[in-house]
Amino acid sequence: MASYNLFLLPGDGIGPEVMKEVEAIIAWFNAEGIARFEVDRGLVGGSAYDAHGQAISEADMAKAMASDAVLFGAVGGPKWDKVPYDVRPEAGLLRLRKDLGLFANLRPAICYPALADASSLKREVVEGLDILIVRELTGGVYFGEPKTITDLGNGQKRGIDTQVYETYEIERIARVAFDLAKTRRNKVSSAEKRNVMKTGVLWNEIVTRIHAAEYPGVQLEHVLADNCAMQLVRWPKQYDVIVTDNLFGDVLSDVAAMLTGSLGMLPSASLGAPDAKTGRRKSLYEPVHGSAPDIAGTGAANPIAMIASFGMALRYSLGLGDWADKLDQAIAAVLAQGIRTKDIAGSQPANATTTQMGAAILGELKKLA
Ligand code: NAD
Ligand code: IPM
Ligand code: MN
Repeated sequence: MASYNLFLLPGDGIGPEVMKEVEAIIAWFNAEGIARFEVDRGLVGGSAYDAHGQAISEADMAKAMASDAVLFGAVGGPKWDKVPYDVRPEAGLLRLRKDLGLFANLRPAICYPALADASSLKREVVEGLDILIVRELTGGVYFGEPKTITDLGNGQKRGIDTQVYETYEIERIARVAFDLAKTRRNKVSSAEKRNVMKTGVLWNEIVTRIHAAEYPGVQLEHVLADNCAMQLVRWPKQYDVIVTDNLFGDVLSDVAAMLTGSLGMLPSASLGAPDAKTGRRKSLYEPVHGSAPDIAGTGAANPIAMIASFGMALRYSLGLGDWADKLDQAIAAVLAQGIRTKDIAGSQPANATTTQMGAAILGELKKLA
């Protein structure tokens, strides 16, 4: 049986609460002998800042680098609003993405049948929804230089963020999107703003070239990112794979989350390039949501996004795709039974805490063993 090193970074707020439910599932896999997972834990975000003044320590970065997969909870919160910009909690996550080279962020938005009425949109708009946002994760305005605030000396300041993309960055994320589309409904929608941004012009040109040269059999359409946001709430089922830059991908994936019923439902996988020798990719798995300071400590957090992120790790990094499918089935079964944390309970009262939801999913998974 293959052995894998998992590095857990629970983080802040609800991060550790939802991670606990994944830890229970990992422990069960080990106890049943389905897999051998070596688990180590580290600090990231505000909890790391409190411990040693950095958003992630060098030692924990080294462990993340050496792991087969990083499982990440969430970071941030009002407690750290005033800490210096370079060591704010979110800097830990951004460093992990950049230093591990995790350029491809997959954010699937699936509306489970039992949740078709949990979205703020009408049932017919979201029922059967299955779209995948492929977000470029190591470039764009998140990392471009200069990134500064300058005092102009006349009572005015100037803030600058810089959107930068180079050919190779667009080529590789386009290939990820086209390859995934071939395993799905064979359609890619590329979202940019070529009408306003030079990077949008370049993005459009390169996606068009990669499509013509390497993926002529995949359907490609170009959509302006603002229109894409509108289309996502108008008729999201027109989409299969959406490929987009770092910032548009951040915003569009929060929009897509609500189509599934709650931000607490959306998982993600962040993948690096395959290693030339082993073919293995560096990887990090995290829910799309944040630390939810408004509900932290109340037991109201929905652990499904975190659990489904672990499911993506089983599929993409741990060679257990069949168990990833079973975990999805277990989630669907629990939702079909009407078990609901507050965020997906609609007008009904919630009938499950974070721990009860996690336990119910593990219970269903056990039945599939
Ligand atoms: P958020 O995602 O933390 O919360 C937005 C809303 O969704 C809140 O009302 C919250 O209660 C709800 N929500 C989120 N996850 C939920 C879950 N699992 N179950 C039930 N409800 C859930 O976004 P925010 O409030 O804008 O940000 C809070 C902090 O989190 C900020 O510091 C932000 O930078 C950080 N953040 C971190 C990540 C990350 O670690 N990947 C992602 C987004 C935001
Ligand atoms: C996300 C988050 C992060 C982002 C923050 C916490 C750095 O919002 O993963 O969606 O903006 O990428
Ligand atoms: Mn986000």
